[in-house]
Amino acid sequence: MRKLTTIPKLLLLLTFPVLTFAQNGPVRGTGNITSVSITGQKIEFTTENAHGELTVYSPNVISVRLDQKKLGKDFSYAVISSPVKTPVAISQNEQEIMVTTDSLKARITKKPYSIAFYTLDGQVISQDEKGLTTSWVESEVTTYKKMQEGERFVGLGEKTGNLDRKGSGYTNWNFDAYGYSTGQDPIYSTIPFYMGIHHGLNYGIFLDNTYQSDFNFGASNNRFSSFGAQGGEMNYYFIYHKRLADIITSYTALTGRMNLPPLWSLGYQQNRYTYYPETEVLRIAQTLREKKIPADGITLDIHYMDQYKLFTWDKSRFPNPLAMNKKLADMGFTTTVIVDPGIKVEKGYQAYESGLKENIFIKYPDSTNYSGQVWPGWCNFPDFTSEKGRSWWRNEVKFFASTGVSGIWNDMNEIATWGNKMPNNVLFNYDGAMASHKQAHNVYGLQMARSSYEGAKASMDNKRPFILTRAGYAGLQRYTAIWTGDNRPEEDHMLLGVRLINSLGLSGVPFAGMDIGGFIGTPSNSLFARWVQIGAFNPYFRNHAAVNTQSSEPWTHGEEVLEISRNYINLRYKLMPYLYAAFFEATQNGLPVMRTLAIDYTFDAKIFDTAFQNQYLFGKAFMVLPFESTKEFGNAYFPKGLWYDLYTDETQTGGTEKILRLSKNKLPVYVKESSIVPMQSLVQSTQEKPTDTLTVHVYKGALNNSFVYYEDDGQTFNYQKGDFYKRTITYDPAGRNIIFEQAEGSRKSKFGQLQLVFHGFSDADKITGTTAQLNNGQKVKESLNSFLTPISHFDPQGTANPVEGAKVKNLTLTHTAARFVIAY
Ligand code: GLC
Repeated sequence: MRKLTTIPKLLLLLTFPVLTFAQNGPVRGTGNITSVSITGQKIEFTTENAHGELTVYSPNVISVRLDQKKLGKDFSYAVISSPVKTPVAISQNEQEIMVTTDSLKARITKKPYSIAFYTLDGQVISQDEKGLTTSWVESEVTTYKKMQEGERFVGLGEKTGNLDRKGSGYTNWNFDAYGYSTGQDPIYSTIPFYMGIHHGLNYGIFLDNTYQSDFNFGASNNRFSSFGAQGGEMNYYFIYHKRLADIITSYTALTGRMNLPPLWSLGYQQNRYTYYPETEVLRIAQTLREKKIPADGITLDIHYMDQYKLFTWDKSRFPNPLAMNKKLADMGFTTTVIVDPGIKVEKGYQAYESGLKENIFIKYPDSTNYSGQVWPGWCNFPDFTSEKGRSWWRNEVKFFASTGVSGIWNDMNEIATWGNKMPNNVLFNYDGAMASHKQAHNVYGLQMARSSYEGAKASMDNKRPFILTRAGYAGLQRYTAIWTGDNRPEEDHMLLGVRLINSLGLSGVPFAGMDIGGFIGTPSNSLFARWVQIGAFNPYFRNHAAVNTQSSEPWTHGEEVLEISRNYINLRYKLMPYLYAAFFEATQNGLPVMRTLAIDYTFDAKIFDTAFQNQYLFGKAFMVLPFESTKEFGNAYFPKGLWYDLYTDETQTGGTEKILRLSKNKLPVYVKESSIVPMQSLVQSTQEKPTDTLTVHVYKGALNNSFVYYEDDGQTFNYQKGDFYKRTITYDPAGRNIIFEQAEGSRKSKFGQLQLVFHGFSDADKITGTTAQLNNGQKVKESLNSFLTPISHFDPQGTANPVEGAKVKNLTLTHTAARFVIAY
């Protein structure tokens, strides 16, 4: 009996050595660890088939590298930080290596190699799937993690599909996805970073590998989640924090955060493929002003160039670009132009000749330049992965500043070529390492955006450039904003756009937008109106439409849609102090401006329901509920807490679902309790000075809340030298106080008056100020007043009609820098 059971087991082990394979057919595992060396926060080890390295980057971040060959120096286009010195305990015995930081534990099992991560009290956060761990199929390397019970997955950048990516698989290969479908994958950019959520825990994994990579969150299998790439080494960062928000902060500590954008880039941008000639551009700008549609940006698409040749203007369409851009600037507009990487192969054309001379184009292995076809016909492509190529581009880009352009829109940088099949034997410098197209493809867009940023910055006289890109890789936020490419004028595409921007936000990219109205056709009137309403609550707000479609300015869909569009664009401009502060926050901690509810309500299962997955927070205060414009009713979910209707102040208790009656002219938006929302008077562009009063709305609630109000000149880098005005405003419900801390920075606020508007407070809440403030000749004015009225009551000047039932108290003070406290 004993024998009988032992023999088949043995046989099984011989034929299917499931738990300890080092090689099984074409699949090569790591095998057992054979040697270990520990230096400071780093463990180097060898296994039967591989070389490995574990580095403690910080108490919350551990990097893991594995390769079949000896590991060299770690080179990355994404990671810009080095390990920080932190207390770590490392011990080992025959079976395992234990690593303990102040925040987590990692255990490497030696026979065979496998790694698991635990909380300090021993809960499993993430662990290799035993038996599979990390393995190679030829040059393709994959790490398999055990699928935890109830595990969800979010992030991975610009990926279609649901907020919860469980059950799906994705590929990263930057792709020119013209008119993509709502389930298409891949599309334009690559951010191999996701977060897993289970049992009240969450963690992040960033695979820093630029080859085509594949992620599997339980697609076609019920055993594991996995990530891997077609070449290069297994190189990933494991991040653990209690809060999902902190994982994003740690991820952006690794890959960098956005710089403060120029204020004008937060205004409304009017695009078209293409506005020309000059008179048409000026007519559009003039009409925006005449129709009182606030706007800051005009964007020129490929037809501004002479036969699509970069760094040229079509002289018949734009005889004097500098003078035109000056006229636009006088009207409060800033000009952005498109650039594509392809340089037309044409004898005598300046950029081509100088590119040839400097020898900066990507090449076939026989040293001839690679040619591919794009708009101008046959083109060569600068090698942005070489310092020489970047330096050449930086120099060429000066051309734009010299013609009065401040925004550079990087397109077709996947690289897109007609045929979409760039050969894999094309070579890139890869900063000295030499790489094939296979390795360099996914970083080309990032390096192009970087070059544009650096070139524009160097030529713009201390002004902040605005860079937009279509393709990119992890870390793109350091240089550029991104938009979601050639979308369709369809209801579900609008909602997909919301999820794409939310997912980019989860993946370290706060500055993102989509083509409002849909790019490749003409939206219905109601869809266009709804899309503008949502766009007003997107970080980057641009309206764009393809050539040969109906023109898509806000007045092209009739009077009613014009009024709706204007109302919401007005609202965005009035919210500019709030929005700018949200961007400031993104520069500090990497948290996005547009936040899926998964950031603040990670463990509330309801928010992942496909019925509610599009809901998001815009900054810390607003919950936006985007619904198709065709719906009469919308099913809304209110996470825990208390929510105020933005338009009526009516409150809604959280933890509830509610059917909302929808109307064309109103996008459902709610304000979270205890929110602090600074607003200004209506302006027609960010270059116009608002009135002297900053209005700070405070919503009564039971949550502690801190809001960092931030101002600077909105244009230059002087803030880096202290030229800013910043103050923390804290709502402390236990102490019944609202505290304005002493202002920081050497700048004076542009607002001399401060008006406080109290929402949800009752007559019993006697509002008083600190004596220091109120003795100063200040009077407390109390009145029934409302700025937030049903949208149909918005008037273009921004004055508001009081709404019955909306009790709002009003207090006006001189805006001094001193600390003061409002008590109630
Ligand atoms: C690409 C871009 C689109 C642009 C067009 C012409 O399709 O994605 O935004 O308008 O090229 O340049």
